Amino acid sequence: MKGIILAGGNGTRLQPLTFAGSKQLAPVYDKPMIYYPLSVLMLTGVRDILIICRAEELHVFRRLFGDGAHLGLRIDYATQDKPRGIADALLVGADHICGEECALILGDNLFHGAQLPVLLRRSAAKLRGCVLFGHEVADPRQFGVAEVDEHGRLLSIQEKPEHPPSNLAVPGLYFFDARACDIARSLAPSARGELEITDVLRAYLDAGTADLVWLGRGVTWLDTGTHESLLDAARFVRDLQHRQGTRLGCVEEIAMYMGYIGPDACHALGAEMSNSPYGRYVMDRAGTFRQGLPPLSFVEEM
Ligand code: DAU
Repeated sequence: MKGIILAGGNGTRLQPLTFAGSKQLAPVYDKPMIYYPLSVLMLTGVRDILIICRAEELHVFRRLFGDGAHLGLRIDYATQDKPRGIADALLVGADHICGEECALILGDNLFHGAQLPVLLRRSAAKLRGCVLFGHEVADPRQFGVAEVDEHGRLLSIQEKPEHPPSNLAVPGLYFFDARACDIARSLAPSARGELEITDVLRAYLDAGTADLVWLGRGVTWLDTGTHESLLDAARFVRDLQHRQGTRLGCVEEIAMYMGYIGPDACHALGAEMSNSPYGRYVMDRAGTFRQGLPPLSFVEEM
């Protein structure tokens, strides 16, 4: 399965912060926001990843991840000259996807939960069209919303409905089979001038091949589209990390536990940042792994 991280857009809701650079590079506590969606793709088992960003920030993303080899990944880059919609990622990324299955994640979505790696990989394995996820939120009006029947089966998907049919928001993570690019090519822009991801999902739904996977209460999903939600996300990461002594979205650690790189390589990556608590954490994890100590709980469940 190929991966795409959509990390463009103008971040207008976060201005003037985003005058200084793209939203997905903004810090969520101790690391750039894009680390979190990247770690979700890595936990899914996706290693061939395209980052779509604005041309202005391309060099910054490249500086962060290069070709991805140090993480045992292959990372490529493409630019989107203007925000044509989330489904545009499937057009910009068509050559990258190249007729394969793909996981598309929005660069401002953050997921966490012990069951998440298992859930992600199970969902990817049973892909028969598209998989979208559902997460209960107090106010779903600012998201894609899933309407479900009494058995939890997907009936419809609406983008930012004024009167939501449920409180089941659809986060920005989607798994698609090889048809996704063709479906995106057939779309017309919506009334707001964008290629809507919900239209792609609806095409799969109409074909009877859209599966909704509920993210239970054990999974946290945070969107970081506003100043408030960005601060909430940073607080969430900080509190969890302080309490548990572990790190969320630590791509070096995940690369090691997933077997993409060895503990020596992981330790060396941490050593490059040894002046920071993050770097020392990476070195420490590599040391623990080398001693054959039991892996972290989230990895045990992988
Ligand atoms: O966060 C989940 C929600 O994301 C979903 O529930 C909605 O169905 C989906 O439409 C989307 O809603 P948003 O209002 O959050 O979309 P937004 O326009 O803010 O874009 C989401 C991210 O994708 C953001 O980081 C910017 C990036 N983006 C967006 C567009 C439209 C691009 O890189 N290029 C684009 O053309």
